[in-house]
Amino acid sequence: MAIQIKTLDQLKSMRQANLLVRSTLELVRANIKAGITTSALDAIAEANIKRGGGISNFKGYHGYPAVICVSVNDEIVHGIPGDRMLMPGDIVSVDCGAIIDGWHGDAAFTVIVDPVDSEHAKMLEVCEESLWHGIAAGVMGAKISDIGHAIEKYINSQGEYGILREYGGHGIGNAMHMEPHILNFGKAGHGPTIEAGMVFAIEPMITLGSEKTKVLEDNWTVVTQDKSYGAHFENSYCIAPDGKPFVLSVEDGGKAQLARLGIEVSSLLS
Ligand code: MF3
Ligand code: CO
Repeated sequence: MAIQIKTLDQLKSMRQANLLVRSTLELVRANIKAGITTSALDAIAEANIKRGGGISNFKGYHGYPAVICVSVNDEIVHGIPGDRMLMPGDIVSVDCGAIIDGWHGDAAFTVIVDPVDSEHAKMLEVCEESLWHGIAAGVMGAKISDIGHAIEKYINSQGEYGILREYGGHGIGNAMHMEPHILNFGKAGHGPTIEAGMVFAIEPMITLGSEKTKVLEDNWTVVTQDKSYGAHFENSYCIAPDGKPFVLSVEDGGKAQLARLGIEVSSLLS
């Protein structure tokens, strides 16, 4: 199967879906504090998606019961919201998606509940910055594996981190998970060539220890085997019809972050 190519109008719908995801994530972020339960965060997210005219792509996805994933400490991704109360110092990853007019958005961030441990803070910075390096490498004409190569190279330049092997980024469009699967590591120069109209969700997942994970009894929550803590950041970006990238899930399209890395974003979607 080929990678789905979107028209400008379809990209505009994906922009709307991703902006709703971003506003939902920011609302959740503003509510993260010691004492709140992860299910309360889910309720806040669900109300915001509804208010924005979106539909959750998480709820009901292979039976997933919530509109966000909240993964705490040694949980890296796919944590199910529930009665768990956030505690001081917790590392909290929140992943959210939404559909508008049939087109999907998907993004995630990680934050630390006060007080912030400096080693944990550095891990979050490294994970987030690796995402920008991945997008900067995934420009028109590059190969899909150039993205993961750039992510891994940046992470390894910053210290000793585990990079999850079994999970990665993905194509996204009129479904949440589409071709291709995008590893967060590997050699450059392999896989399909990146073209205008493609959209990818890039999502590095790293840990302070081993990259080995297991899935809990709930069949969703992905935890590290060595109980080391981790981080996860995700953005969805496109190659616009003018051949320039645009980060659909960030307010400014990634303009400021990508300028630092020498990449100009498209003006077609602003
Ligand atoms: N949004 C996640 C990803 O980044 C997938 C979440 S699985 C779900 O690919 F079941 F929670 F939807
Ligand atoms: Co994703």
